[in-house]
Amino acid sequence: MKTLLTEAELRAGVASLGEQIRERYDGRPLTLIAVMTGSLVFLADLIRVLDLPVRVGVIQASSYRGGMKAGELTTATDMLIDVAGHDVLLVDDIFDTGKTLDRLMQIIQDLGAKSVGSAVLLHKQRQHDVSLRPDYVAFEIPDEFVVGYGLDYLDLFRNLPHLAVLDQNDIEAAKEQAES
Ligand code: IMP
Ligand code: MG
Repeated sequence: MKTLLTEAELRAGVASLGEQIRERYDGRPLTLIAVMTGSLVFLADLIRVLDLPVRVGVIQASSYRGGMKAGELTTATDMLIDVAGHDVLLVDDIFDTGKTLDRLMQIIQDLGAKSVGSAVLLHKQRQHDVSLRPDYVAFEIPDEFVVGYGLDYLDLFRNLPHLAVLDQNDIEAAKEQAES
């Protein structure tokens, strides 16, 4: 397993992102909606460096059906808090094809939010499938499959404190784990 971003690098990136967001909203209340489950760790760190009155909610989206390839996108809003009339910032772990954020921005807009922005921890350097781009990005990364700091492979590795790229041995071991 190769480390792509250390704990210290992640902490510094999240702090600087928090500062940009704080400047932009300048004391106004902000509703953060985190995309479950990958943004869990990012959310926890981001809200603690955000010196703003924040409301926190979650929305579900899933496109990775047991592997590394994006499958069909499913979303669920049953746990979402009220967003109508609020300034909303969607928080996701990674911008890959872009389809997830694109769909979720639309859902939040349709629910009557006053404004909808987006913040992602990671932005993959590749061709995206949508014209939308995230408003805030902590790190640009190469087009590789990454795990840790909330991101998973087969629902494993979310608890790694750093961000890593799996090698073939890790992938095989994870497959065995997931099957047992
Ligand atoms: P998009 O819709 O293709 O932009 O995909 C976004 C979602 O796919 C993210 O919220 C992640 O859950 C997942 N994803 C994309 N790339 C990776 C990766 O490299 N590792 C783990 N999850 C990923
Ligand atoms: Mg996700």
